Amino acid sequence: MTLRKRLYLLYLALLLVIPTGPSAAAQLFWYLKNLDSPFVPTNQATVEAMLRIANVGSSDYLIDLGSGDGRILITAARNYGARGLGVDLDPQLVKESLENARMAGVADRVSFQQRDLFDTKIGKATVVTLYLLPEVNLKLRPRLLAELRPGTRVVSHGFDLGEWQADLRMSVRGSGSEVFFWVVPAPVAGKWNARIITPAGPQVLEIEFTQKFQEIDGSARREGKLVHVRDARLDGDRISFVLIDDVDHLHRQHFEGRVNGKAIEGTVRGGGTAPRTQHSWRASLDATVNRMQD
Ligand SMILES: C[S@@+](CC[C@H](N)C(=O)[O-])C[C@H]1O[C@@H](n2cnc3c(N)ncnc32)[C@H](O)[C@@H]1O
Repeated sequence: MTLRKRLYLLYLALLLVIPTGPSAAAQLFWYLKNLDSPFVPTNQATVEAMLRIANVGSSDYLIDLGSGDGRILITAARNYGARGLGVDLDPQLVKESLENARMAGVADRVSFQQRDLFDTKIGKATVVTLYLLPEVNLKLRPRLLAELRPGTRVVSHGFDLGEWQADLRMSVRGSGSEVFFWVVPAPVAGKWNARIITPAGPQVLEIEFTQKFQEIDGSARREGKLVHVRDARLDGDRISFVLIDDVDHLHRQHFEGRVNGKAIEGTVRGGGTAPRTQHSWRASLDATVNRMQD
């Protein structure tokens, strides 16, 4: 029996023990139309938790992939002033969503379209919400990493994104639901040529980062000599790390910066006999090794 058939039978079995499930028409639509996930609405406590964990606000553009009756996006618009787009393959659910948005007074802030989530452009989103099946999340993962801008927040109800560890994970009290949260990391894997701008002239560094999703590690050379990279962190497009001299361990430089494509700019504190000094630094990527997992 295929995985799809097994999931469907499991789903039907669950509906028998949970009498408040979605309509029989919606289940049948899922099965017959070959949808990637059935319609099971997110309970309202979990909708609220998803929006709070992503810190949704009025400057956000939220895309709900498989938007059902529109409740996540409509709540984001009504309670937090967000704008956005919901897409669903089921025309009846799209119709209901438009009507629900009108009744909630947010029809001017949100739109709902009948469209396949795999054919939906997502690059405009600042927040993406998901309540899909595990294998659908995994199929989406490369697109989330490649098409969303670094710093975009992704929230999933119920299922994770496999090897891409969640930055936060929470159980929603009383609902039995779990919510997962990620920030899309900037791609930084590769060799960077960096310069610290000091009054005495530039200091030149070569830094190499390895990356697995948001986890990064590095090694570096200053004027050809090895320096250790410690505490390397990536949060969206913000990077930070400490360089520690191989010989003089008190010689530490704390780097912070913002990744913008093939460039990083920021400030560096400390170094040598003047730990309180602060300089700016810049790095550019050696284009030949710009790779990231997925
Ligand atoms: C579990 S429901 C979630 C609904 C809503 N996001 C929520 O949390 O209340 C999944 C939805 O995805 C829709 N769906 C399944 N496959 C899809 C696809 N390939 N493209 C767009 N929508 C899809 C289904 O019709 C269903 O409404």
